[in-house]
Amino acid sequence: MASLSLLLRFLVVVTAHVTEARWGPRSRLILTEGSHHPPGNTPSPQPGAGPEPGDPAPAFQVPTLDGKFSYDPAEGALKGPLVIHAFTNKSGFLESLWSSESSLKSLVEGLPDRAQVLFLSLDDSAVSDALWMREQLRLAAAHSSWKGVLTRLHFSPLPVFALGNWIPNVLYYWGCMGHNCGLSQAVFTSDGWKMPIVVKRLDARYDWLMARWSNNLYQLADVGDGCEPSASLGGAVAWVSEGNCSFFTKVQSMAKSNASGVLVYALPGNPIQDMNCAGTECFSPLGIPAAMVHLEVSVPQALRSGQVVKVSFQTTPSPNFFISIDQQGALAEMGWFLYPSFSFVNWQAQWFGFSASLQSKLQSPAKVTPVFDQVTMQGDKGAVATVDLPSDLWDFDTLELDASLSCPGRRDSSCAQWDHTVQLFVCCDPLSPHCNAELGRWITAFRRGSGHWLTDVSPLIPLLDSNKCTFTMKTAPWAMPWVVSLNLRFSVSNQTGEEFGKLRPFRVTSLYSGGTFDKNYNKRYQPTKFPVPSSTKKVELYAVITGHGSDENGCGEFCVTSHHFLINAVHNNTRRFDSAGTALGCTMRVKEGAVPNEHGTWLYGRGGWCDGLQVDPWRIDITKQLNMSDFESNTIVYFGFFNGQDPNPAQEPGYIIMSSFLIFYK
Ligand SMILES: *[C@@H]1O[C@H](CO)[C@@H](O)[C@H](O)[C@H]1NC(C)=O
Ligand SMILES: *[C@@H]1O[C@H](CO)[C@@H](O)[C@H](O)[C@H]1NC(C)=O
Ligand SMILES: *[C@@H]1O[C@H](CO)[C@@H](O)[C@H](O)[C@H]1NC(C)=O
Ligand SMILES: *[C@@H]1O[C@H](CO)[C@@H](O)[C@H](O)[C@H]1NC(C)=O
Ligand SMILES: *[C@@H]1O[C@H](CO)[C@@H](O)[C@H](O)[C@H]1NC(C)=O
Ligand SMILES: *[C@@H]1O[C@H](CO)[C@@H](O)[C@H](O)[C@H]1NC(C)=O
Repeated sequence: MASLSLLLRFLVVVTAHVTEARWGPRSRLILTEGSHHPPGNTPSPQPGAGPEPGDPAPAFQVPTLDGKFSYDPAEGALKGPLVIHAFTNKSGFLESLWSSESSLKSLVEGLPDRAQVLFLSLDDSAVSDALWMREQLRLAAAHSSWKGVLTRLHFSPLPVFALGNWIPNVLYYWGCMGHNCGLSQAVFTSDGWKMPIVVKRLDARYDWLMARWSNNLYQLADVGDGCEPSASLGGAVAWVSEGNCSFFTKVQSMAKSNASGVLVYALPGNPIQDMNCAGTECFSPLGIPAAMVHLEVSVPQALRSGQVVKVSFQTTPSPNFFISIDQQGALAEMGWFLYPSFSFVNWQAQWFGFSASLQSKLQSPAKVTPVFDQVTMQGDKGAVATVDLPSDLWDFDTLELDASLSCPGRRDSSCAQWDHTVQLFVCCDPLSPHCNAELGRWITAFRRGSGHWLTDVSPLIPLLDSNKCTFTMKTAPWAMPWVVSLNLRFSVSNQTGEEFGKLRPFRVTSLYSGGTFDKNYNKRYQPTKFPVPSSTKKVELYAVITGHGSDENGCGEFCVTSHHFLINAVHNNTRRFDSAGTALGCTMRVKEGAVPNEHGTWLYGRGGWCDGLQVDPWRIDITKQLNMSDFESNTIVYFGFFNGQDPNPAQEPGYIIMSSFLIFYK
């Protein structure tokens, strides 16, 4: 039941998701864009105006409630990343971040071991803010079995504007989009008032509320608790109290009453909360925006005395609320927090851990063949390079792709939108059947430029069947440009097994590709005999499979598909994408390099992939499944299922991208 409701929940969001061809940039949904800088209008940084992401963070000291916090890169290797958070209670988002029990608990329980956080306040109230933040986290830690984290949290009573070091410069200078900065506000006006009343607001979460506030001036209508539909509100914004029913019920009943939007005010003493749906509520998308605010008594007073109150919505720029210093001592952006939770701090810190271990892996000995060095990949052509391969290829049994995708500028704001498939094709001998076989696949990170991955593709070494090869890396032709770097790393594996270490892949046979995931999907696949070369010692099945698009079941991106390679009619080798459609499926893979805090809904599990991650090849040793005494008698067939059956979508079907091979070792 839980998984059904999750699945259904994701059907609601699927329409906000695009991975491939069918939606061009034109159909981009505004809801994933920041409100400050419309796309194409991002201010370009002035040269020399301040440090950029990637620049070394200078040493600094700040006083804290417990003494002082010092950061000194000269003290040798850093133990872990440092996240710097600047709080202001003028932000409804931050108020909710700091009031929600689950948010606080996630920091206390989930901050990676070596990460530290420095908490600052942007305001005059820095002393009381620091004391309050510390108290909130102490309370959260008191309810948790894990208290060790408190020694890694530092609270400064000195406001940001008084720090006198580089931190304010970076907080103010780095542009910021979306949720991690900016003061979202509701503005009330009434003829009887000399001044507008401006209050902070927190918009309801976008994955179920598909509408945003427009620039209109709306009339405000008092509708009590908003739990029941009322007489038509004729396009007014409903003013309703917290409580008596769920947030979702309020918004739904106000939508039925022809409200243009809903403002839910917190009951006195309560914080602003993250309005979201729960359980079966999430099956119904809503067509109007909603936000939570604090109660300003003048507003209901005016409404009750029959005066007209108007409301409009604005976002006032603010400094960035989060910046960080990675393990290497470089300044880094923290990406987008989709909703108010400290989990986003944890995910970014986990990724810094991944990045540090990747850097150390890249120090291990290998013969490196550079293919792309900061090459712009765009359009039908993609990035193309012809390179000479090492002449002693046969000495290596390991081939890794060291790939990274960065952006035209140094800030994430210059990065391409959307999560598109990136494929690397190789052609060494134009006459070979393997010319332009797929060597690697990745998915772009939506508006984040830090993706860097190491993918083991050793079984595909036989595709490099000449000493000069042409590599082509491509994404959707209409995608904004990415800047790609790619090195081939050839090495000798560190195997302890006596015989295994000596086996080398010497031949590959291409098997199946995917296609439209509809009722005819499996009709194209027939059992085929495949010859096994006589010197073969081991045979492996190697497949790279991803599901895309969205029919009424969310297939193939958000539905659980299974892929079967049946050998000799009895051995059923199965790959199932169980986490597709789960709420946090891709957050589990941040430790493996999935870029966190992207500007889309990168958190959800997907069909064989995650945003901002390489697609891991699936490898399975099938030697024992084969008849090695008759090299001509073996057969294989592939089929792909949804829910254990042939797919049978009622609406526009999704599709599977697959390359699969048999790898022969001797
Ligand atoms: C933040 O603001 C709200 C209302 O504006 C207030 O109730 C709350 O006490 C404030 N919290 C802090 C820590 O100042
Ligand atoms: C919530 O429900 C109670 C009981 O029906 C009612 O007295 C109260 O006025 C409601 N709250 C609001 C703000 O309408
Ligand atoms: C909402 O507006 C529509 C069109 O203006 C109208 O047909 C409908 O009756 C209204 N709903 C209510 C609850 O008044
Ligand atoms: C090789 O493997 C052994 C045992 O697993 C390990 O101790 C050693 O560090 C490895 N060497 C390298 C270069 O990875
Ligand atoms: C392997 O093939 C040979 C020749 O077709 C056959 O006699 C033998 O039974 C097969 N072995 C297995 C395990 O299927
Ligand atoms: C292979 O496994 C899948 C899933 O367990 C099952 O639905 C399918 O019928 C099996 N096929 C064969 C031929 O055994």
